[in-house]
Amino acid sequence: MKGVVLAGGMGSRLLPLTKVTNKHLLPVYDKPMISYPIQTMVNVGILDVLLVTGGRNAGEFLRLLGDGRALGLNRLHYTYQEGEGGIAQALGMAEHFAEGGPICAILGDNIIEKNISRAVERFRQQERGAKILLKQVPDAHRFGVAEIQGDRVVRIEEKPKVPKSDFAVTGFYLYDNSVFEKIRRLRPSGRGELEITDVNNFYIEEGTLTCELLDGWWTDAGTFDSLLRANNLVAQNGANHSEEPGELPVEAAAQKSRA
Ligand code: DAU
Repeated sequence: MKGVVLAGGMGSRLLPLTKVTNKHLLPVYDKPMISYPIQTMVNVGILDVLLVTGGRNAGEFLRLLGDGRALGLNRLHYTYQEGEGGIAQALGMAEHFAEGGPICAILGDNIIEKNISRAVERFRQQERGAKILLKQVPDAHRFGVAEIQGDRVVRIEEKPKVPKSDFAVTGFYLYDNSVFEKIRRLRPSGRGELEITDVNNFYIEEGTLTCELLDGWWTDAGTFDSLLRANNLVAQNGANHSEEPGELPVEAAAQKSRA
């Protein structure tokens, strides 16, 4: 399976930090932000990776990452997203790269503590469909939020004012190749973007979306508060511990949260 790291967009929530550099090149403790999702790919054994960049200073990624071999990849490929048409639009740019196969996508501002290899393995055994990873958070309204029944996600809402649960959809996605046909069916949301949440809801309607719960910490880093949190978490605990499994069955966690 190939991977795509999504690092397009303008990073406008981090202005003025992003006025002269790309959001994903900002430091998170001792490394540029983009190093963490790339390391996540390496840890799960996905070594052919496409980086979708965008905005100003996209050329700096090449200077930092080169052909990707120093990071443990076989080869890092690059493409450029004009504007910020949304996460699903950026993912759609990987269609040719996927060569008809499944694809693992990671958001360029998402950082995790542990290793999600087992979730990736279980997805490989899935005949079709998608898998997402969830995490219980205190501020679910900032994310895609999963409504759960038993061990199944029945709907995802993007940034709801009143979240139906505290399970955020993290920025780690595993898709079969039908994701590209689904992206073509999308229409821009109220904020003018092709939403990854709408893609995931297509899979739910089809009955082929599975999910697991992330164990260990997870954060995005696209706002001042979450960037600070990411820095502190990495400084205190380190990230991408390759030896520690990082996922749990959802039902057990859902029961725990109801208790
Ligand atoms: O962090 C997880 C959350 O990420 C999910 O829970 C949400 O469902 C999902 O929509 C997303 O929410 P955000 O509003 O936080 O996404 P944001 O616009 O900050 O974009 C996250 C990353 O996606 C960004 O660092 C780069 C990539 N991206 C984003 C856009 C809008 C692109 O590559 N192209 C884009 O056009």
